[in-house]
Amino acid sequence: MRAILILAMFAMLGTTLQVQAHEAGDFIIRGGIANVSPDASSSALILDGSAIGRSEADVDDNTQIGLTFTYMLTNNWAIDVLGSTPFTHDISAATGDLGLGTVDAGETTHLPPTVSLLFFPAASSSRFQPYFGAGLNYTLFFDEDVDSQLEGVLGRGSLELDPSLGLALQAGFDYKLTDNMYFNAGIWWADIDTDAEFEFASNRITTDVEIDPFVYMVSLGWKF
Ligand code: NI
Repeated sequence: MRAILILAMFAMLGTTLQVQAHEAGDFIIRGGIANVSPDASSSALILDGSAIGRSEADVDDNTQIGLTFTYMLTNNWAIDVLGSTPFTHDISAATGDLGLGTVDAGETTHLPPTVSLLFFPAASSSRFQPYFGAGLNYTLFFDEDVDSQLEGVLGRGSLELDPSLGLALQAGFDYKLTDNMYFNAGIWWADIDTDAEFEFASNRITTDVEIDPFVYMVSLGWKF
C-alpha cells in the first residue's frame, strides 16, 4: 500500500513537473531567414489603352530577415504576426508582340505584415508543436524603380504598385530545444494582387499582377 502511495505521489509530481511547451499567456518571438517566392501571373501589358499580345509581367523571389510574434490566447489558440526587413523584388516583362523579348522592367520593395489566428492541436506537454492558421496579409509597395535600360527605350519613367489586402494561410511547427528555446519552420501562402502602372515620357503601361507568393521561414524562437 505504501509503495503504491509513493508511486502515485511520484506520478503526480511527474505531472506537475512536466514542462509545458505552449501555454496560455506565453509570448514567443522568433527570428530567422524568410524567403518570399512569388507564383506570379499577370494580365497582358496594356500600352496606352491596348493590350500587347502574349505579354506578361513576372516577379522574382527575395530572402530577408523574418520575425514572428506569437501570443498564446489559450493552450491551443494564438494570435501571430509576421514581420520582416523589406523584401526587394525584380520585375521583368515578357513584351510579346511588342518584340522587345523579355526585359527587366524595374524593381519594388515591400513589407508584407500578416496577422493570423493559429491553432496548435498538440497537448501543451508535447515538445513538437505543429500549428496551422489563417489571417490577413497587407502588402505595401514602395521605392518602385523603373529599369534604366527600359527607360533608354521608352524615355524617363516611373512605376507605381497599389497596396494589397488579402487572405493568408500558414502552417509550421515549433520544436522545443530547451525550456525557452524553439526551432521553428513555417510556410505561408498569401493572396497578393496589385495593379502595376508604368508611366513613361509618352507611354503608359498597366497590368494586373497576381503575386500570390509562398513565404518560407526557418527560425529560432524564444518563449517569454
Ligand atoms: Ni491572387
